[in-house]
Amino acid sequence: MKHRYVYIQTIGCQMNVYDSEQMVNLLASLGYIPVTSMDRADLIIVNTCAIREKAEQKVFSFLGRLVKLKRKKANLIIAVAGCVAQQEGQKILDRMPHVDLVFGTHAVGRLPRMIQRIAAGDGPIVDIDMSNTITAGILNEHSTESSPGVSRFVTIMQGCDNFCSYCVVPYVRGRELSRAPADIIREIKHLVACGAREVTLLGQNVNSYGKKEHLCSFPELLEQVCRIEGISRVRFTTSHPKDLSNELMHAFKDLDVLCRHIHLPVQSGSNRVLKLMNRKYTRESYLEKVDTLRQLCPEIALSSDFIVGFPGEAPEDFQQTLDLIQTVEYDSLFAFKYSDRPNVPAADFPDKISEAEKTERLQTLLKAQEYYTGSKHQTLVGTTCRVLVEGLSKRKTETVGIEEVPNAQWSGRTSSNKIVNFSVDEHACLAGDDLTGRMMDIKIEKAFSHSLWGRPVDGKTDLSDAEGENRYHAA
Ligand code: SAH
Ligand code: SF4
Ligand code: F3S
Repeated sequence: MKHRYVYIQTIGCQMNVYDSEQMVNLLASLGYIPVTSMDRADLIIVNTCAIREKAEQKVFSFLGRLVKLKRKKANLIIAVAGCVAQQEGQKILDRMPHVDLVFGTHAVGRLPRMIQRIAAGDGPIVDIDMSNTITAGILNEHSTESSPGVSRFVTIMQGCDNFCSYCVVPYVRGRELSRAPADIIREIKHLVACGAREVTLLGQNVNSYGKKEHLCSFPELLEQVCRIEGISRVRFTTSHPKDLSNELMHAFKDLDVLCRHIHLPVQSGSNRVLKLMNRKYTRESYLEKVDTLRQLCPEIALSSDFIVGFPGEAPEDFQQTLDLIQTVEYDSLFAFKYSDRPNVPAADFPDKISEAEKTERLQTLLKAQEYYTGSKHQTLVGTTCRVLVEGLSKRKTETVGIEEVPNAQWSGRTSSNKIVNFSVDEHACLAGDDLTGRMMDIKIEKAFSHSLWGRPVDGKTDLSDAEGENRYHAA
């Protein structure tokens, strides 16, 4: 088979990362090999995100830059995938005539056939049909050779039925649909055989997993995944606070392999704003769940998403958000300025907040959290954390520590999702070894704002002792 090259630019959330990997697996059947340089590519796919206006602008500026490449290489195929493709469809072709293919979030399985048609001169094509069926995971039988990574995402359900008033996801990803447990397990076993040690199960609201299709519950699925031989760690995202069940909270106590971290996006600390957002929980019921989680699993790390400047968010509402951050003391958080999206109810809400005010609130919020992230990192200095090594660290160190911390060569995460970089001394027994995929005990020596830094304890490594997680400090 003649080899061709595909370059995929992935914008957006983990689901897009997973979909891009599925595209690579599907295109392998046509002889496509992924490359990291656009100049070498015969096919460029931009996998897009529509969650905020900024993300959408990023797509169009990226596509604009491809005009030159297309002029140089007449048979280059340019494709747009993902949530903006689903949302805009034909309009992308109207605006960007150098694009050959626009395919939506339910069309990934049809990609090889469409590429063949375009190569045969049958383009451009727009396919944004919402099939409302879920395709089985596509395994890449060749991926053992290309080292697929220690930590992998696996989408267990697509779509969302919650219709939060600000959010495009239900429109661009369609209704909630769950994959069969056997299909999920088969895929994870394959990933483990290829070198994965950690999986993150993905869904917009994992608590609804399997309900429509009468499959097993999400905690039951978790249990099955945790039992897979060779898996050291399991994570999931996201659990909608309104549906976070007691059964799932107990899983943090009962399942050793389940990481001690939960992302529980609250969005706002004001009941009035939560109601406008259609989130269907209150500040009080959210805080109650946080308490229960911490009672069941005291070492659990918590993170959240926040939207600032939601239409009608008064200074008092924002104050309640700041107050909630101080009450919960999150390990980390993501915060976003509210952005109007096409067709969502909040776009028509009155009392929009000015851009300047949104920026100010965002900065105030991030500043309020800085203290908690910093002090949680600081308390880990001097302790030993168990780290799953994901590979060589991308940046040698955070800029702030560049003089003090040379040679941060390896990078991994703790069960609580904290990034740990560490170096191995030149003369240590591990020097020169590939540590990727190993579970290592790292003595933390320095804390930075987004990561920790340390050295291995006695150069000791342990691949099998998942239980050992709990013997260590909260990390
Ligand atoms: N399903 C997840 C969230 C997925 S979207 C959940 O419900 O928790 C990721 C985050 O983007 C959201 O948590 C929210 O904080 C943010 N977001 C979504 N729509 C937005 C908008 N219109 N403007 C700003 N931020 C938004
Ligand atoms: Fe969007 Fe709400 Fe669904 Fe999350 S739960 S994807 S915020 S509609
Ligand atoms: Fe973006 Fe689509 Fe994910 S809108 S956040 S890529 S589901």
